[in-house]
Amino acid sequence: MTRGNYVVFDGMDGSGKGTQLKLLKEVFDGRVVFTYEPGGTPFADKIRELVRNDPLARESTPLNNLLLFFAARDDLMHHVVMPALMSGTSVFSGRGYSSTFAFQICGEEQESLESLFYFLRTLMFDRVGRYRPDVHIVYDLPAEVARERAMADAKRDRNHFDERPLEYYQRVRRGFRTFGSEREQVIFVDAMQTPEAIHQETLEHLKRLGIE
Ligand code: TYD
Repeated sequence: MTRGNYVVFDGMDGSGKGTQLKLLKEVFDGRVVFTYEPGGTPFADKIRELVRNDPLARESTPLNNLLLFFAARDDLMHHVVMPALMSGTSVFSGRGYSSTFAFQICGEEQESLESLFYFLRTLMFDRVGRYRPDVHIVYDLPAEVARERAMADAKRDRNHFDERPLEYYQRVRRGFRTFGSEREQVIFVDAMQTPEAIHQETLEHLKRLGIE
């Protein structure tokens, strides 16, 4: 049985990743397992609730936050990603390792946790064997634009939003780039294009990877 493909779709808040995943669902629904991080299993969704909405999590330590994202990921890997890939089905995930590196290490300026990030990542790859992402597709856009869009989204949905300085967005963007220049296969897509153009470019990249 050939294993399915494991693709992570990522980008800054405001990059339009959600819209792209919706468009991909219209094309691949029923043939690909769609999931997201943090979350995607009952336990991981509890962690999602904690890290996104519980002020106690925010007031905890950067180390704890990093570990919580990995805890959610481990559960998702074992209950959703691995079984799907093993049965030959591809998995498309909204966010993944690239987010943890960009947000928890670079955005939060926790470079001292970088070796722990790589250690945990390697540990998970060792345990789950071949089931690491084949590629990360990152929707890239200038920090200024990402920040404006994220703020507009928060206003529209009236959701809780920590207003972050521009420098934070710049660090996160650099984080995705650093992640891409290291050991992972990362494809950057210009997220300043129209949603349809971004969608077409995404489909072309997937086709090149043999996913169509
Ligand atoms: P969510 O509302 O799902 O954002 P989006 O729809 O853009 O994915 O919230 C996920 C948030 O969690 C998002 O702000 C990025 C953050 N995040 C991390 O900080 N680290 C991680 O490892 C992951 C997976 C997400």
